[in-house]
Amino acid sequence: MKKSRWSLLLAVPIVFGFALVKTEAEPAPGVRKFMRPKLDNAQKVLEGLALEDFEMVGKNANALLRLSEAAEWQVLPSPEYVRHSEEFQRVANELIRAANNKNLDSATLAYVQLTMNCVNCHKHVREARRVALAQ
Ligand code: HEC
Repeated sequence: MKKSRWSLLLAVPIVFGFALVKTEAEPAPGVRKFMRPKLDNAQKVLEGLALEDFEMVGKNANALLRLSEAAEWQVLPSPEYVRHSEEFQRVANELIRAANNKNLDSATLAYVQLTMNCVNCHKHVREARRVALAQ
């Protein structure tokens, strides 16, 4: 009797701990579903640049900008996440402007910056998750 009470005392923090690790280790399915289309939009921007189709570039840059303005985008409250988000919006706006002005070089440069921004924000998200897991 005494023994089982002890194991219960142990089991509670263990189960709780797993629940916490689970939420930190994986994004919610809704978040993933929301984030996924960015890849499609970014690939279409590249296609637009490669084919000098400014309408395609502008349309998909606009879609990316709209995604970044949605509430679902705010996954982490960290200042760094906010900074990456602001940078994303600045570069997406640059891409839209360059597409409107039919400036292929500026649009291509903005696309490269956008790609760096994708990778940098994901780096930060992974790092933040590793830190949360280690605690
Ligand atoms: C400000 C931060 C930020 C920026 C910038 C960003 N992402 Fe993400 N992205 C996230 C977060 C948060 C997730 C959710 C995954 C997670 O929590 O591990 C995610 C997930 C994804 C996923 C995975 C979805 C899945 O099925 O799991 C893809 C693909 C993706 N992003 C593509 C992009 C592309 C392409 C860009 C650039 C055009 C980009 N992201 C820019 C924050 C960002």
